[in-house]
Amino acid sequence: MLSIKHEKLFRDILSSVNTNSDFKMSRNFIQHGSTSICTHSIMVAYQSCKIAEKSGVRISYKELIRGALLHDYFLYDWHDKEHNHRRPHGFFHPLAALANAERDFELTDIEKDIIKKHMFPLTPVPPRYKESWIVCLADKMCSAKETIIR
Ligand SMILES: [Fe+2]
Ligand SMILES: [Fe+2]
Repeated sequence: MLSIKHEKLFRDILSSVNTNSDFKMSRNFIQHGSTSICTHSIMVAYQSCKIAEKSGVRISYKELIRGALLHDYFLYDWHDKEHNHRRPHGFFHPLAALANAERDFELTDIEKDIIKKHMFPLTPVPPRYKESWIVCLADKMCSAKETIIR
């Protein structure tokens, strides 16, 4: 559990992202095993907050949560061979997610960096902000868990 303050912030941001975008659509796409992109993104955002609280570093929780919720906002089925054949998913989905997120939201530099760099070190440029490092780590933790649990 998060602190009451961050738990409330988390719920408020999740509900606003959910109502103002195609976020719900990501329920239809699977990330790993039986976990949808939607569930995965919520788990990554929550895990990111837990890491931030545990470490006690000063960060922007609002940007951390928004960036994490949108980090995989690419809105296609990445298991579809046709899609992967043209552009390897691992490298290109952060840019697809960023393009969709920029279409639907006014993003800050930190939020853009979170989305763009979350696959580091697969993509070569390292995260620039503490928030992006946290999401990069949380994404790997959640992905490993989803892959093992399936
Ligand atoms: Fe991703
Ligand atoms: Fe992810």
